[in-house]
Amino acid sequence: MRVIRESSREAVDRAVFEEFCAALRRRPAGVIGLATGGTFSAFFARIAQAVAAGELEMGEVRATHLDEYLGFDHDQRGGMVHELTSLCPPLRQMLDEDRFWPVPASGDAGAVQEHEQRLAEVGGVDIQFLGIGRNGHIGFNEPGTSFDLGFHRVHLAPTTRADARDRFAPDEPPYEAVTAGPKSILKARRIVLSAVGAAKAPAVRAMLEGPIDPQCPASCVRYHADSVVYLDPEAAAELGESAAAMS
Ligand code: F6R
Repeated sequence: MRVIRESSREAVDRAVFEEFCAALRRRPAGVIGLATGGTFSAFFARIAQAVAAGELEMGEVRATHLDEYLGFDHDQRGGMVHELTSLCPPLRQMLDEDRFWPVPASGDAGAVQEHEQRLAEVGGVDIQFLGIGRNGHIGFNEPGTSFDLGFHRVHLAPTTRADARDRFAPDEPPYEAVTAGPKSILKARRIVLSAVGAAKAPAVRAMLEGPIDPQCPASCVRYHADSVVYLDPEAAAELGESAAAMS
């Protein structure tokens, strides 16, 4: 795993966008695994802008993502597919053309199996983007999740629901979701995790300097041979010298 301390949040956004462009160049008909959340909002806006300006060609690429709230429709406010397609219209077009494959929000075992099978049949995910929760989650794999789990249904942790409160207000955030598990995430050929802001500093430290343990789900990324972590100064603030040496 490489850990890269960028000089600013904007530099993290640039690096993540470059990763995306490089993945498209490497395998124009590959599969991109997206993540949602504030960490990636500038990234999606940038993709949309680049496509609209004719600077980026999505070509034959396919996309999928990590997680969805249980039972959510693609156009349901607060949902992950709704977020992705609203922030990034090219993903809306890909959804309409069946080139963006959402996580089966029903959580139904057959649908989940079909989704995993479809990803496997096209050769798996080429690059998986990840954010990290304040509690160390990736996707919606909350602390305590076994690293052996594939796609599965989850109960969201209190911090995850608290962080989702704004996107659902005045309604309550959901209690359950469907997520790619650590086992599915680690199958991606390359993993790009990014973290920005001081709120993420303790989780980033646990991920990089704590034990590799389900109590910090993001720590499983250290098992992946081709993984990179981009941090802004605030997210890297609690790291010791050892992590600096990984850069
Ligand atoms: C959402 C997801 C989550 C987020 C994480 C960080 O698809 O995978 O693991 O990446 O909760 O969220 P933000 O970026 O909003 O801080």
